[in-house]
Amino acid sequence: MEEKAEKPKVVLGVAGGIAAYKACELLRRLTESGHDVRVVPTASALHFVGAATWSALSGHPVSTEVWTDVHEVPHVRIGQSADLVVVAPATADLLARAAHGLADDLLTNTLLTARCPVVFAPAMHTEMWEHPATQENVATLRRRGAVVIEPAVGRLTGVDTGKGRLPDPEEIFEICRRVLARVVREADLAGRHVVVSAGGTREPLDPVRYLGNRSSGKQGYALARTAVARGARVTLIEANTGMADPAGADVVHVGTAVQLREAVLKAAAEADAVVMAAAVADFRPAVYAEGKIKKKDGEEPAPVALIRNPDILAEISAERAHAEQVIVGFAAETDDVLAHGRQKLRRKGCDLLVVNEVGERKAFGAAENEAVVLAADGGETPVPYGPKEALADVVWDLVIPRLGRAPGVGTGA
Ligand code: CTP
Repeated sequence: MEEKAEKPKVVLGVAGGIAAYKACELLRRLTESGHDVRVVPTASALHFVGAATWSALSGHPVSTEVWTDVHEVPHVRIGQSADLVVVAPATADLLARAAHGLADDLLTNTLLTARCPVVFAPAMHTEMWEHPATQENVATLRRRGAVVIEPAVGRLTGVDTGKGRLPDPEEIFEICRRVLARVVREADLAGRHVVVSAGGTREPLDPVRYLGNRSSGKQGYALARTAVARGARVTLIEANTGMADPAGADVVHVGTAVQLREAVLKAAAEADAVVMAAAVADFRPAVYAEGKIKKKDGEEPAPVALIRNPDILAEISAERAHAEQVIVGFAAETDDVLAHGRQKLRRKGCDLLVVNEVGERKAFGAAENEAVVLAADGGETPVPYGPKEALADVVWDLVIPRLGRAPGVGTGA
């Protein structure tokens, strides 16, 4: 019988927040998908979910401090042998202790001895998240290469709502899976801010009708998710996808091309890279009817006059926020794909253009994609038919060497 490969070892750190109960679901997903998970809660986490639960769900003993099983040197071994450490929820206190290198319990010891990728999924009240102390700690951890997922916006403990919610366990699991699967095992977008546009704009004709397109937004979401997993701060500008916000990205919702332009220009002002995956309508109705346009018996409908929308990609490429900003466009072509792609790359003035051939199964709505990425410096990278995430990773692989030097990245864990 073939010998089974050893299961990837994951340490699930749990800090003391009400969202600790959601970590049970993350633990279940990790174990069911073939990971060997060791849970390391903090003492305060056990006020929310008891050691017996963690132990039963993980199949391993659980302790919070370094004085249990001392002969096995757990404070060193657990971190050393891990393939991934994920802390969910990470409280303001835990982030502070991790950023400052404290080692006052088993979890912080584990964080100091781990040499594998580390993912933090913070959850706390909005005020605590926004406090400069927390923000500086998060920036420190990111600079050192950790993936710190942006909290979600929504209902918090009590009556409060705002930013600070733990993202869905399923989303955190997806990020863990990606971080583990990555060939380059470092957060190579850490310290970077990237902007991704996704979906398709809708140009209203009257209060109930619009001109739209068939873009699903899946490629843009794949770009946002992969960038989060590679450690970037991500702003996703979403137009009409109907999909739930991906974990870890700041999401701005827009409807029309004009709104998309405004959101992109604002976010691009301080971004290292902008990827325009959205399908932007080239035209909009010249007149918006305030009331619903009614049909009239015996009369043909009036033709719809259209006017041009601004070309956002061309605009941000021509007027870059800074010299080292990398700009990526997308193009869907039906014939003479490469020749049209090269022309479009020149016309738009961006650094990279992802050229899709549109046809059956390809591009719109599908989970898979096939493309060629053209570079302004002459490069041509074919990406075989496969998941949109694989194409997204190739895009980031091509963006990274074109970025300017990251401030202080790569100084080790
Ligand atoms: N785009 C944009 N603003 C527009 C239209 C398109 O920023 N008003 C961006 C898209 O997000 C995409 C790229 O430009 O990244 C290519 O869009 P496409 O519609 O293929 O380009 P066009 O210039 O409209 O070319 P065509 O003549 O093929 O319609």
